[in-house]
Amino acid sequence: MDATTTALLYLSGVNVSFDGFRALNNLSLAVEPGEMRAIIGPNGAGKTTMMDVVTGKTRPDDGDVYFEGVHDLSTLDETRIAMLGIGRKFQKPTVFEMHTVEDNLLLALKNDRRPRAAMRWRETADELTRINRILDTIRLKSERSRAAGSLAHGQKQWLEIGMLLAQEPKLLLVDEPVAGMTDHETRQTAELLKEINRDKTVIVVEHDMTFVRELGVKVTCLHEGSAIAEGTIDQVSSNERVIEVYLGR
Ligand SMILES: Nc1ncnc2c1ncn2[C@@H]1O[C@H](COP(=O)(O)OP(=O)(O)O)[C@@H](O)[C@H]1O
Ligand SMILES: [Mg+2]
Repeated sequence: MDATTTALLYLSGVNVSFDGFRALNNLSLAVEPGEMRAIIGPNGAGKTTMMDVVTGKTRPDDGDVYFEGVHDLSTLDETRIAMLGIGRKFQKPTVFEMHTVEDNLLLALKNDRRPRAAMRWRETADELTRINRILDTIRLKSERSRAAGSLAHGQKQWLEIGMLLAQEPKLLLVDEPVAGMTDHETRQTAELLKEINRDKTVIVVEHDMTFVRELGVKVTCLHEGSAIAEGTIDQVSSNERVIEVYLGR
């Protein structure tokens, strides 16, 4: 790889095939420290597979995948990659519905997803401070004592993001965060991610172009496993190939 890269995340010439089908095709992508990058592209473009490669869920057939210029992610397992500071939010919420919002965050802070083991531990002053900070960020301070299962869909997604923040990742990967959200929730999610981006690097995959525009960040469009356009939302959405394969449908 390019030893002089300043990128926090660096992918170069990455290929992934499933039974001969190329899900990622010579994919290159560099995300700088502190950046927020939006990834768009049609269904099947390889967006989720790209995240699978970064988090160690899928091994690339070849190509470079580096974190902080030194960690070769293609050789590390999911646990090691999480420990390096890469956190991922999946589309499907995985909150503990019976527990309160606060306890869900406490569980995430304890880094122990087994409810019974963790619930015996008391919340320390330091943890309370951290929980309050996260509750502010995810706009759930007034919902802290509610059962997570009773939250609105959007709030549950924010709680998930909060549980991810509790692990203090350097890089957050967020796959389709606003799917199923109301317009108001979508706008709030853009604000929330912008706040998180003040001290964390973020990669967000999303179809909602209004949301992507609201983020106001550099956009990469994937198609058939490759990056076909990169730039501002205006540059990318006026790109002929992007219109042809994605926007113009
Ligand atoms: N584990 C897998 N086994 C076989 N094919 C897969 C697997 N994961 C993804 N694919 C295929 O790879 C392509 C890219 O999928 P994906 O990365 O999920 O696209 P996107 O998230 O952009 O919609 C799709 O055609 C999908 O069917
Ligand atoms: Mg996907």
